[in-house]
Amino acid sequence: MRYLIFADIHGNLEAFLSLLKFVQEQKIDHYLFLGDLVGYGASPNEIIQKIRSLKPISMVRGNHDKAVSGLDSVQTFNPIAASAIQWTQQNLLKRNLNYLLELKQGPQIIHENITICHGSPFDEDYYIFGEFDASEAFLHINTSLCFFGHTHFPFVFREKDGFVEGTFLSGNSNEVKIEEGVRYLINPGSIGQPRDRNSQAACAIYNSKTQKVNFYRFEYNIEETQKKILQANLPPALAERLSMGI
Ligand SMILES: [Fe+2]
Repeated sequence: MRYLIFADIHGNLEAFLSLLKFVQEQKIDHYLFLGDLVGYGASPNEIIQKIRSLKPISMVRGNHDKAVSGLDSVQTFNPIAASAIQWTQQNLLKRNLNYLLELKQGPQIIHENITICHGSPFDEDYYIFGEFDASEAFLHINTSLCFFGHTHFPFVFREKDGFVEGTFLSGNSNEVKIEEGVRYLINPGSIGQPRDRNSQAACAIYNSKTQKVNFYRFEYNIEETQKKILQANLPPALAERLSMGI
């Protein structure tokens, strides 16, 4: 099976359209989305409409999805993120709000051997930034593979015999070979708001037959996304950061 692993679209339609184009050339059997369809970007309705075309898909909600649906308060967000959440609430169609409300809380186990979550398997809002966080996360995973999002950094943590080692996957074509007896926590990076100083959208493909995870980066029409953010009167910083990849 070939799984597309993707996360953190954040209302960025142009990046998502580029992903859809990319997957046309790939033979994807199952989509795994790790949360945050909305927040920051100006196209939440379009994203929710389009994600319905990806089948079969397994997904979990992100912290922005939760806050936009009113299941969480915006007080834990910084002022820029909070104002984007309020903008999204005001502009979301009712049926799309219902879609967000129905998203499942992570972690979820897929096909018995894969865990998916947004932040971490023990707390959907927790950021796994380093080996200390990853060590805690491995205590809460019963599968050898766990995919997570939330930080917007492509990253792999390996755990063997209690030792945890993390690697930042910089660059555009990394490959991780899944070894027996090792457990993995893997972040594909972000589709709609990469933060690793690389403005290209990020995703990964896990091939369960070859036991490889390949990481990809691809261009999208950033100027168009920025234009939409400014036209929507969202905070201009949300447009600026996209071209810097921060
Ligand atoms: Fe996010």
